[in-house]
Amino acid sequence: EKGGYDYFMLKEIAEQPKAVADTLLGRIDGAGSLRLDEVRIPDSVLREVDKIVVVACGTAFHAGMIAKLAIEHWTRIPCETELASEFRYRDPILDSRTLVIAISQSGETMDTLMALRHAREQGAKVLAVCNTNGSTIPRESDAVLYTHAGPEVAVASTKAFLTQLVACYLVALYLAQVRGAKWGDEVRGVVRELSEISGEVERVLETMEPVRELARSLADKNTVLFLGRHVGYPVALEGALKLKELAYMHAEGFAAGELKHGPIALIEHDVPVVVVVPSPRGRSVLHEKIVSNIQEIRARGARTIVIAEEGDESVVPYADHLIWIPATPTLLQPLVSTVPLQVFACELATARGNEVDQPRNLAKSVTVE
Ligand code: F6R
Repeated sequence: EKGGYDYFMLKEIAEQPKAVADTLLGRIDGAGSLRLDEVRIPDSVLREVDKIVVVACGTAFHAGMIAKLAIEHWTRIPCETELASEFRYRDPILDSRTLVIAISQSGETMDTLMALRHAREQGAKVLAVCNTNGSTIPRESDAVLYTHAGPEVAVASTKAFLTQLVACYLVALYLAQVRGAKWGDEVRGVVRELSEISGEVERVLETMEPVRELARSLADKNTVLFLGRHVGYPVALEGALKLKELAYMHAEGFAAGELKHGPIALIEHDVPVVVVVPSPRGRSVLHEKIVSNIQEIRARGARTIVIAEEGDESVVPYADHLIWIPATPTLLQPLVSTVPLQVFACELATARGNEVDQPRNLAKSVTVE
C-alpha cells in the first residue's frame, strides 16, 4: 500500500532513487559499455537510422524533449520531439530509416498508440519506452526498453518520468555506441555519472524540507511561473504541469530566452518565478544569460525561487529562495532538478486541500483520443 506515506505520490517521489537504479540495472557493463539486448532492432538497422522522432504526451513528452537534446548531442542524428496528439495529423515525413521512440508510462495512451501505428504504416521502426509490461504500446512496437519504476499509482507522474529520462539516455548512448560515434571522455564520464546518479537523487530528497515550507507559504498565490533553458526548459514545463494538475493553479513554463519576447509583461510585484539554472561548468554562456534573466525579473518585483547547482555563488544575490541541487553533467541535470518541483507541487496541493493522488478531471491512463 502507501508504505507509511500519506499519499502514493509521496511514496513514489521517495522511490525515485531505486527506480532510477533499477532502470540502469544490468544495462551498463563493468567496462562502461551499454547492453540493451532486449532492444530487438538489429544494430545493422540502427546504424542506418537517419532521423529520430520522439512521440509522447504530457510528462512523457517532457522526457522526450530532453531525449532530443541527448540524442542529437551524443549521436548527431537529427531528432525531433512531437506531441503524439499532433503527430499524425500533419502528414509527417517518415520512412524505413526513421526511428520513432514512443514514450509512455501506462503503455495505453491512445494518442501515443495512434501516433506509433501511423509511423509503422509509413515503414518507420518504433521503439517503445514503457513502464507497463505487456501493455498495448510495447506490443505494437518493433522493440521496447522497459523503465523499471514499478507500479505508479498516483495520477501525477513522478518516478516514471525520471526512469523515462534514464531510458532515453541509455537509448541515445547505445545508438552512439553501435554507430561507432567517438566514444570520448565526455561520454565515458556521462556513463559513469549516470551509473551513480541515484545517490544524487537520494541526496536531493534529503534536503526537501525548505521546499515544502516554501510551497506552503505560497498556497494563496494565483500564478507561478517557471523558466529554464536547454534541458531546464522541459523541466520548467514539467514543474508547471505538476502545479496545474495538482494545485489547480495557473502555472506556465517558459524558455528563459523568450521572456523578452512577451512573458516578461507578466512579471509584477511578488509573482513567484521558479528558475532552473544550468550548470556553470557546462554551457557557461547559457548560465550567464539565465543569471541576467533572474536579475531582470527580480528588478521588476518577482519573487525568485532559484534552483541551482551547489556552489554556484553567482545566483545568490538575486535569489529570494535558493534550492541547491548536486552537480551533474549538463544533460543529466533534469534527474535532480525535477525532484524539488515534484515536492513543491505536491506540498502546495496539500496546503490547498486538494486530493493529491486523484486530481479532479484526470485519469491515470488516457485511453481515448
Ligand atoms: C502528468 C501525467 C500525464 C501523463 C500523460 C502520458 O503528471 O501523468 O501528463 O504523463 O498522460 O501518460 P503515459 O506516460 O501513460 O502515456
